[in-house]
Amino acid sequence: MSDTHTPTLDNLSHETRAFAPSAEFVANAIGKPEQYEAANADRLGYWAETARKVLTWDTDFTEVLDWSGAPVAKWFADGKVNAAYNALDRHVENGLGDRVAIHFEGEPGDTRSYTYSQLTTAVKQAANAFESLGVAKGDRVAVYLPMIPEAVITMLACARIGAIHSVVFGGFSADALRSRVDDAEAKLVVTADGTWRRGKPSALKPAVDEALAAPGHTVQNVLVVKRNGQDVTWNEKLDKWWSETVDSASTEHTAVGHESEHPLFVLYTSGTTGKPKGIIHTTGGYLVQAAATHRDTFDLHPETDVFWCTADIGWVTGHTYVTYAPLVNGATQVMYEGTPDSPHQGRWWEIVEKYGVTILYTAPTAIRTFMKWGRQIPDSYDLSSLRLLGSVGEPINPEAWMWYREVIGSNNGPNGEKKEHPTPIVDTWWQTETGAHMIAPLPGVTATKPGSAQTPVPGITVDVVDEMGVSVGNGEGGFLVIRDPWPAMLRGIWGDMDRYKETYWSRFEGMYFAGDGAKKDEDGDIWLLGRVDDVMNVSGHRLSTTEIESSLVAHPYVAEAAVVGAKDETTGEAVVAFVILQIEPAEGEDVVATLRAHVGKDIGPIAKPRHILVVPELPKTRSGKIMRRLLKDVAEGREVGDSTTLADSTVMTQIADSMRK
Ligand code: PRX
Repeated sequence: MSDTHTPTLDNLSHETRAFAPSAEFVANAIGKPEQYEAANADRLGYWAETARKVLTWDTDFTEVLDWSGAPVAKWFADGKVNAAYNALDRHVENGLGDRVAIHFEGEPGDTRSYTYSQLTTAVKQAANAFESLGVAKGDRVAVYLPMIPEAVITMLACARIGAIHSVVFGGFSADALRSRVDDAEAKLVVTADGTWRRGKPSALKPAVDEALAAPGHTVQNVLVVKRNGQDVTWNEKLDKWWSETVDSASTEHTAVGHESEHPLFVLYTSGTTGKPKGIIHTTGGYLVQAAATHRDTFDLHPETDVFWCTADIGWVTGHTYVTYAPLVNGATQVMYEGTPDSPHQGRWWEIVEKYGVTILYTAPTAIRTFMKWGRQIPDSYDLSSLRLLGSVGEPINPEAWMWYREVIGSNNGPNGEKKEHPTPIVDTWWQTETGAHMIAPLPGVTATKPGSAQTPVPGITVDVVDEMGVSVGNGEGGFLVIRDPWPAMLRGIWGDMDRYKETYWSRFEGMYFAGDGAKKDEDGDIWLLGRVDDVMNVSGHRLSTTEIESSLVAHPYVAEAAVVGAKDETTGEAVVAFVILQIEPAEGEDVVATLRAHVGKDIGPIAKPRHILVVPELPKTRSGKIMRRLLKDVAEGREVGDSTTLADSTVMTQIADSMRK
């Protein structure tokens, strides 16, 4: 595994505010203090009971956890369950067929709502269509779609027939798509002609065409949703329109139970080395923890709540808290295709007002952007329906947390009226690997602190340990670990089980190493302090420094590259690259623009460095390791730290000189 650095302990002990829930909130709260007690007394018993409460099992399980193959867990292993049946059919059978499952808000303003009955029918048709295209249980389906209902329909149709979906974020490039399709050996790709971006049609299918242009892939069919009607190049051998394949398929399809440990999906995420990791999640345990946390953390009352998670389905948050948990819990949710600033900066608040959203779940980077735009924008909307706010993806700074509470959570109408009790805020810590919330308050129990995720959810055991793996005391910091296996944990890395063990289980004996620094405050509550490895967090998106470095050095101009994440007020971190050139660029060429475009093509626009600095040398230790810490100091405009271990002590002066130029 890669080196870790010790987390910097910001002086978080300044923050002593805590906001207890109102008596009214407590009285109606779903999550109760007894859940912690029950889980502490009998962890596996707690999960077994929860599993039977939140899911309908085709075959009940007899064993809760089998950890004999550690670190690969088996949860509810002899049980059988169908994810799509739990998300759809059972609600229809229970008389909830007319409840709205998804209010879809398209970017140009077109809208569609699906009731549970309609969504069930759509998924049955897609399941039949996929089967008619030769997709069978265990086959992989790559999904490269915008935030449109067909994305959810595709994922659930895969789950229904036991095919394993692998969603690739629509902002990733053709090259990134191809490497994921190849790694997963996908048989089918589901995509769209395009999407809408800031009011303009933007193409998606050309990236699929480009990804599959070279032979040697395993894809047999490409199913194309017509989203914005733009011209597409048609490959007669592969391409089929969704409208001609799915819409005409039979509306009858019986869901059968799959083994609890049957893989549900593979989702690629950036690690500390260049190659993205295909994180494997299986069915039963994942769904149990997804549904239970969605119910408890968000205090879900499915009969009355309107839930809106703003994450894209290309990320794990979209998987768990758009596709699976809300539907398994029979909730009504909003799905939005566009960006927060189009056609105007009040777009989100307009949506909250329109649908009467009660629970909003988003990322700190969005909150900080709204702060920048000014409170007069949300203040002019009626956000009184909101009763709970969630945060995810990166540490939320106390200022952003307080703004979220005071501006969004206190809004009781556009006349400047304030709520008597601002809505609780839940900061949720988890990862692609953990599958569902791990550290989060229970909003009717916890007195919440601005900037802290605080307590492990019932049934989860986390700790903060020092370099040696010893639990630290209150008021101390270290590395976040998870002590016991949990239902929604990853079951491995696709095609590379050694890397799974090495990455997560080798740093500390018998504990899962999350890659995050954390601190326990005086009450023992947990504060997340950011990554301690070579992973950056840009706008809540996970990017690997090594992956971007590999991309840069693959360009003929570049001899060497080092990438760091520099603190950024809005995006959390920004990508900054230092490069040594090996060829002089052509006269008049903007080498920085060329290299940024190259990374955009290689990985995707989100990975483009904010700044690229051409430097004569990189700071290295005598053993040749790049000292990114020093580059981070430069990138963040700080005095450069201890550089005594550098092989050449003049390097940092040279870099500073070239920056001044
Ligand atoms: O560093 C932590 C940060 O995001 C990482 C996981 O990224 P990803 O797998 O893309 O999943 C993001 C959404 C679940 C973590 O290792 N992170 C996530 N949530 C928080 C967070 N850091 C601090 N506070 C959070 N609430």
